[in-house]
Amino acid sequence: MSRSAHPAGPRHGDVLPEGHYTAPAADLNVLDPKVWARTVARDDDGVATVGGIQVTRLAEEFGTPAYFLDEADFRARCRAWADAFGADADVYYAGKAFLSRAVVRWLHEEGLNLDVCSGGELATALAAGMPAERIAFHGNNKSDEEIERAVSAGVGRIVLDSFQEIVRVAHTARRLGRRQPVQIRVTVGVEAHTHEFIATAHEDQKFGIALAGGQAAEAVRRTLALDDLELTGIHSHIGSQIFDMAGFEVSARRVVQLLAEVRDEHGVELPEIDLGGGLGIAYTSEDDPREPYDIAKALSDIVTRECESAGLATPRISVEPGRAIVGPTAFTLYEVGTIKPLEGLRTYVSVDGGMSDNIRTALYDAEYSVALVSRRSDAEPMLARVVGKHCESGDIVVRDAFLPADLAPGDLVAVPATGAYCRSMASNYNHALRPPVVAVKDGGARVIVRRETEEDLLRLDVGE
Ligand code: LLP
Repeated sequence: MSRSAHPAGPRHGDVLPEGHYTAPAADLNVLDPKVWARTVARDDDGVATVGGIQVTRLAEEFGTPAYFLDEADFRARCRAWADAFGADADVYYAGKAFLSRAVVRWLHEEGLNLDVCSGGELATALAAGMPAERIAFHGNNKSDEEIERAVSAGVGRIVLDSFQEIVRVAHTARRLGRRQPVQIRVTVGVEAHTHEFIATAHEDQKFGIALAGGQAAEAVRRTLALDDLELTGIHSHIGSQIFDMAGFEVSARRVVQLLAEVRDEHGVELPEIDLGGGLGIAYTSEDDPREPYDIAKALSDIVTRECESAGLATPRISVEPGRAIVGPTAFTLYEVGTIKPLEGLRTYVSVDGGMSDNIRTALYDAEYSVALVSRRSDAEPMLARVVGKHCESGDIVVRDAFLPADLAPGDLVAVPATGAYCRSMASNYNHALRPPVVAVKDGGARVIVRRETEEDLLRLDVGE
């Protein structure tokens, strides 16, 4: 994917970036189950429903823009991941994708663990009653205060990301009189086939400690030498929105090689490996993600095979899916405000949100789909670009999509698969008020994160 702008010119807008889909679906009224949350359907009146509730009713009650999260789907996905990995492995939901106290309670009830990467995420997890031993604490630059909170709360694992951190965590553990379980995050030198900004295992980036040049082996040596740390395993996360298992395979192989080296050098078999998250989801009908069961089987086969050939007992595997659990379970509902047909190019459809509630299109060239959801339409498809209301021409929500040509102001459109990294990366740009997250289940809907208000904004502005 290119990160450079295409050249300006009178017709530059019709140059579709490579890989963007161009053909309309046969029937724009169909809500493809691949990209929509499980309980989404269109009722006899042609209105889309989620959890049995019409989106028109949801818009009246909760306003737009808003994220609607299908709780039954979220819980079903948690169970699917937990069942797929079974009793010999652990699933840690990556809270950065989307975290709220309600979500933490669902995870707890469904038996998942939680990966947090900041003091704020840790506070949310603890406030909602997640047992500390089921929390993993990540981050490439944890502050002393964050380390202290994590150790004193008794988190089950801190994932060490640098040489400095080995010492910092050990000092804190000593001071607090605890022996802290830790893993070491390594970079395995894999180029994940994903956008540069979300690839994390090649060597030239900020995360982890490189396997190359014996760096990771040195980190193991230093960690094992400190009594205040209990080194339980090695961690690798290769990137995000990945469909191809080849990167995981190389990563698992290299991590197991390190375990074998550790055994040879120190006589210790580390009991855990974590292969991170990063499994892709369908944002458009073109994407074909794998099912959790296939992923679990592929990963455990690779690890078992590699361990057998290295003469190691198979370690306990853990994974950290964020997007693959929450991503497909939510959609963003917008109201159409203005419509500008640009002759020979496309029609710009402006909605009442934009890059403040979904930065992913602007940041990663992400692709999304969109549908008219407040009614059916049998009008011809028109090539549309769904844009927001921000003062930025890059404020694009859906770059290229087909919507019915009779689309009108006041219609509701929805963008599916916005459960991950949309609310959690939302901003107040242009003093936008961040939208609420509404959980919908069995005919009931409730706000789990409320809409921001102007009062919230003014409260932060001390006014001096
Ligand atoms: N584990 C670690 C150590 C991570 O850094 C991440 C994501 C995950 C697990 C979860 O990855 P997932 O399964 O959700 O792909 N903002 C970007 C994604 C950044 C991911 C950062 N780390 C996006 O919107 O695509």
